[in-house]
Amino acid sequence: MLGNEKKIVIAIDGHSSCGKSTVAREIARKLNYIFIDTGAMYRAVTLYCLRNHIIENGFVGREKLIANLDKIRVSFKYNPGTRNNDVWLNGENVENEIRLLEVSQNVSPVSAVAQVRHLLVSLQQEMGKSKGIVMDGRDIGTVVFPKAELKIFMTALPDVRAQRRFDELTSKGEVVSYEEIRSNILERDHYDETRQESPLRKAEDAIVLDNSYLTKEEQFDWILNLVAKI
Ligand code: DC
Repeated sequence: MLGNEKKIVIAIDGHSSCGKSTVAREIARKLNYIFIDTGAMYRAVTLYCLRNHIIENGFVGREKLIANLDKIRVSFKYNPGTRNNDVWLNGENVENEIRLLEVSQNVSPVSAVAQVRHLLVSLQQEMGKSKGIVMDGRDIGTVVFPKAELKIFMTALPDVRAQRRFDELTSKGEVVSYEEIRSNILERDHYDETRQESPLRKAEDAIVLDNSYLTKEEQFDWILNLVAKI
């Protein structure tokens, strides 16, 4: 049955806020695979920068960040309460804090720093060495695991993505405006697609999943069908 067969690497890339992590987490559960949200790793580094005045007035102090990289420890720990792999920064669970809009607004320039990418990509490759992993991000199928057995490129209409993110943040009590979220999503798409270092692009052999009008269950079934065919 699913999950007992030869384990594979599933790479899920795509645009911001199209539900990659939700889908990847659930697929990993169903297959009994490990789920790694690589965006959480870039967010944790961003949180470190915000707390340590490496980002000031929206500007990343690149040299200062590079000089501090050896002080930044990002890892994952299983949280039995939520059944989630929470992200930890230097011994502290920061799973909730990294989702704040302030982090979203500053993460793109941090993730464009080559040294940050090299550090996190090598951690990610280490985590996927034994396969049986579902990893989501922007460069998983192109850079981290170019030989992944299954590559999916997820996207959805910007308005649909903005509404979903707005609902998620307001349900957690964060006071945000829909317009602010929509423009952050569009800015991040642009930044991710045009940066020099590992820009977001669909791997040639990735299969596109536009989930604008799909339910979560429809997406799970679509992916599990692909897995079953491998
Ligand atoms: O998936 P997310 O929105 O949590 O990701 C946060 C940011 O991190 C996103 O704007 C781009 C960056 N990112 C990246 O550059 N490479 C990855 N593999 C994952 C995320």
